[in-house]
Amino acid sequence: MLLSITITSFSFTSCKAEYSSYMTCNVKEKQALPRIKKKLVDPTNWLSSWSVSNQQDCCKWVGIRCNNSTGQVTQLLLGSLRSLTHLNLNDAGFSGLIPHQLGNLSNLHYLNLGNNWDLQADNLHWTSNLLSLEYLELNQVYFHSELNNWLQVFSTLPSSIKELHLRGCTTQSMVVPPQGYANISKFTTLRVFDLSENQLNGEFMHMLSNLTSLELLDLLRNSLQGEIPQTILNFQNLRELYLNGNELIGQIPESLGRLRKLEYLYLGDNSLTGLIPTSLGNLSSLRVLHLGENKLNGTLPRSLGILANLLNLIVWHNLLEVPVVEARFSKLSKLKILDMSFTNMFFNVSSSWVPPFQLTHLFMDSCKMGPKFPL
Ligand SMILES: *[C@@H]1O[C@H](CO)[C@@H](O)[C@H](O)[C@H]1NC(C)=O
Ligand SMILES: *[C@@H]1O[C@H](CO)[C@@H](O)[C@H](O)[C@H]1NC(C)=O
Ligand SMILES: *[C@@H]1O[C@H](CO)[C@@H](O)[C@H](O)[C@H]1NC(C)=O
Ligand SMILES: *[C@@H]1O[C@H](CO)[C@@H](O)[C@H](O)[C@H]1NC(C)=O
Ligand SMILES: *[C@@H]1O[C@H](CO)[C@@H](O)[C@H](O)[C@H]1NC(C)=O
Ligand SMILES: *[C@@H]1O[C@H](CO)[C@@H](O)[C@H](O)[C@H]1NC(C)=O
Ligand SMILES: *[C@@H]1O[C@H](CO)[C@@H](O)[C@H](O)[C@H]1NC(C)=O
Ligand SMILES: *[C@@H]1O[C@H](CO)[C@@H](O)[C@H](O)[C@H]1NC(C)=O
Repeated sequence: MLLSITITSFSFTSCKAEYSSYMTCNVKEKQALPRIKKKLVDPTNWLSSWSVSNQQDCCKWVGIRCNNSTGQVTQLLLGSLRSLTHLNLNDAGFSGLIPHQLGNLSNLHYLNLGNNWDLQADNLHWTSNLLSLEYLELNQVYFHSELNNWLQVFSTLPSSIKELHLRGCTTQSMVVPPQGYANISKFTTLRVFDLSENQLNGEFMHMLSNLTSLELLDLLRNSLQGEIPQTILNFQNLRELYLNGNELIGQIPESLGRLRKLEYLYLGDNSLTGLIPTSLGNLSSLRVLHLGENKLNGTLPRSLGILANLLNLIVWHNLLEVPVVEARFSKLSKLKILDMSFTNMFFNVSSSWVPPFQLTHLFMDSCKMGPKFPL
């Protein structure tokens, strides 16, 4: 059986299937297929006919099926690519349901169907055959209601996965069940986990505590509740943590300061309270620290002043106060963006102070200035 993917979004209207001897594909049609080909790995050059220089009617190109009466290309037959290990159809203009026949490509290591216009998934059972799958991207694929239960998603996906990108797949609020998602711990080799923009609602992060290989965790813009769990300490390989735009409460755990590989830490736009932990000063690789739009109080810890790799420091809209003294910024030589607007902080510096950083953006709206702020 051949693998077929139904295309409905491309318009190959002048691609007549009358097997005429002259070329009938217009320029647009001739360019679309070679573009898709570029995203396929085709070691045997099976798709050699998919070439802009091929003068033949594109309905006669290998693997192409047209509708006999309208001449539209309706199917791509990739059956001869069963040994395919890499299939990248990101932003290729597909729409309609993801064909379950993709599950026949059992050698796939990499499958990317993200960012297609109106591509939909009714279930993911077909992925359970893909036992070598390491990379799966379904960003912006619309999940039907059967998939509005992440338990089904996590149960079905093969445990071989190392990178899972599921950004913006669901549009209805989904409450995380208190008993959690039992199967999530099977992803022991998962390094990159992107579940951003899915309206996940409830406590979720503590269920991830066994995913100790995580290097990037992106839960941006959901409705996650509860506190950042102490088990975050398990993520010793974490380089990037994106939690902006949720409903997290409680304090920032001290233990975050022990994730020594962290480079990007986004905790903004939540309801975090209390002091900024001094332990964050131990994150010597940190490049971005975004704590804006929370309810943090106290002051910027002196320890942050030694973060020599920090590019962006964003603390706007917090309850921080106590003047920022120059010593605090002594080592921030790479700082480009400093946003402390809508806090009560101000620089209290001497007129001889030469800032060590090269700011391109300084936001201090409504922030009091020291009497001698150098400008
Ligand atoms: C071909 O296209 C016409 C018009 O869209 C449609 O009615 C017909 O069912 C199609 N035929 C096949 C075999 O898909
Ligand atoms: C379309 O035309 C080809 C060539 O005439 C034929 O082999 C094929 O069966 C036709 N397909 C359909 C669905 O009618
Ligand atoms: C291909 O996938 C379809 C749908 O999942 C299935 O019915 C069919 O048996 C598969 N074919 C082979 C050769 O595995
Ligand atoms: C997934 O969870 C279900 C229900 O808890 C369990 O029956 C099943 O064995 C689990 N599967 C795997 C692969 O962990
Ligand atoms: C983590 O793994 C341990 C040992 O397998 C298990 O007892 C525990 O329930 C798991 N935790 C989560 C949150 O899945
Ligand atoms: C920072 O690291 C040092 C040495 O690794 C440790 O002694 C200290 O307790 C840490 N500071 C914080 C606030 O965690
Ligand atoms: C910070 O806020 C907490 C309550 O969230 C309060 O208990 C604490 O006293 C405040 N600390 C300072 C320094 O304002
Ligand atoms: C600003 O710094 C000067 C000199 O260190 C100090 O005397 C003064 O009290 C500070 N002002 C505030 C509001 O902290």
